[in-house]
Amino acid sequence: MIYQVYIRSFADSTGDGTGDINGIRSRLAYLRDLGVDGLWVNPWYRSPLHDGGYDVADYRDIHPSFGTLDDAKGLICEAHEHGLRVIVDLVPNHTSDEHAWFVDARNAPPDDPARNRYHILTGKGPSGAAPPNNWSSVFGGSAWERLSDGQWYLHLFDHTQPDLNWSNREVQDEFQDILRFWLDLGADGFRVDVAHGLGKDMSYPDERDKSAEILVSTGIHDHPFWDRDETHTYIRQWRAVLDSYPHDPMMVAEAWVEPDRTPLYVRPDEYHQSFAFDFLGSPWQLDELRKRTARALASAGSVGALPSWTLSNHDVVRHTTRYGLPPGVDPRTWLLDGPHDALDPDLGLRRARAAVLLMLALPGSVYLYQGEELGLPEVWDLSTDVLDDPVWVNSGHAVKGRDGCRVPLPWSRSGPSLGFGDGPPWLPQPASFAGRSVEVQAGNPDSTLELYRSALALRRRLVPTTDEIGWMDIPGILGFRRSDGFSCWVNLSDDAIRLPAGSDVLLRSDPGSGRPALLSPDTAVWFS
Ligand code: NOJ
Repeated sequence: MIYQVYIRSFADSTGDGTGDINGIRSRLAYLRDLGVDGLWVNPWYRSPLHDGGYDVADYRDIHPSFGTLDDAKGLICEAHEHGLRVIVDLVPNHTSDEHAWFVDARNAPPDDPARNRYHILTGKGPSGAAPPNNWSSVFGGSAWERLSDGQWYLHLFDHTQPDLNWSNREVQDEFQDILRFWLDLGADGFRVDVAHGLGKDMSYPDERDKSAEILVSTGIHDHPFWDRDETHTYIRQWRAVLDSYPHDPMMVAEAWVEPDRTPLYVRPDEYHQSFAFDFLGSPWQLDELRKRTARALASAGSVGALPSWTLSNHDVVRHTTRYGLPPGVDPRTWLLDGPHDALDPDLGLRRARAAVLLMLALPGSVYLYQGEELGLPEVWDLSTDVLDDPVWVNSGHAVKGRDGCRVPLPWSRSGPSLGFGDGPPWLPQPASFAGRSVEVQAGNPDSTLELYRSALALRRRLVPTTDEIGWMDIPGILGFRRSDGFSCWVNLSDDAIRLPAGSDVLLRSDPGSGRPALLSPDTAVWFS
């Protein structure tokens, strides 16, 4: 069970409005008491922060707003003292345009080896004025930007994030060295950004199918830049580095690929884990949820692995809000386009509480996104002048972007930023966050925070003796049983459903229902 810390928004120790490493250190006891095994920290490197730190200027240094390398060492050490592991975010697909390599590339003449670390090409047309091909950036617009001497560089994300040329041995060596740098500092592993994007078709053909979007599996075979076979060569190099360390470090892939491609990433000499994004993307609907859950289990199982479940992260609309939207509404476009009165926040929260019991009952590992344990919703009504996500500008103000799930955490019911720090936070918190703060929820047995604490503690206690689950065919119920008698039911129907006579209820997502023998719609129960 890993807790994702979006560092800018977790805890601010300096009062500058931005979360930082020492803020995380001050809250380690909270994470330990929540019951997680470790934390994954979003990028903390030196960066111009054009994409929240996924634009790295120096992979071996910390952004001054987040702290220092000594702070990072201190965090790793103290986390270990609390029994928590620390996973660092590795960003290998692209650097920042302020990275020393790109500064060199920009200043070098065409054909200089410094340019070969990136994808820098001559454009089309008599004067090379047209981009080399039709590839699009997942943030919007062309994936090519022109240099002052007329050549073009590739950026699958923002134009400040030039893509590295992974066919270049120097790039491969550099990243193995970066891994060693953090492992030597005590890091326990890596979450690898855009894990499915490293290899590129070096003949740079036009994209035939332009349906590939950010954070959506492509499902396209032999795509010129997603999910290419050569990517696995680089993964194996990293795995060899990790395996040479005695403290058993791990790596987890952020690979938005079709479920039947996920096993390729978790073969024994590749990643230890890969997020089951197909499950994250499921609508709140019995057949879909069951199909996607079973598919993730079968696909990971085909290579002897288990899925890594997650419901939210810093890139998607928080699931409390997703589950409160009517069927068929795309949450990403809904943020801007509405209709906003279609949202039923109570329904969303009820389902989110059920969903976490489902997820925690499944075999595999689990990633929680900060704030979901408080039932935080997406802050969909952030005013457009505070938006920071490059998606907003790059989409020509058509897509609001990901800021609404990145609003700083409320720790207390009052204070300038509800306990996040001593000054105004970098993104404004809605007034409603006060009532969802840790201070308000802690100790209240009906709160979402206490539900998470109980569920995590129980999950630890009820370690399964087998990873096999047996599906139960009960109308309206997503249910399964383990051979040790542990069962999880989620009611996805519109009616209350009677629990089996004599069941010993361990935990339920609606503790206050007052009808212990019944399972209300959109709620879940663990029983034996
Ligand atoms: C995926 C990250 O999670 C996202 O936040 C980022 O914008 C892109 N990769 C590009 O690095």
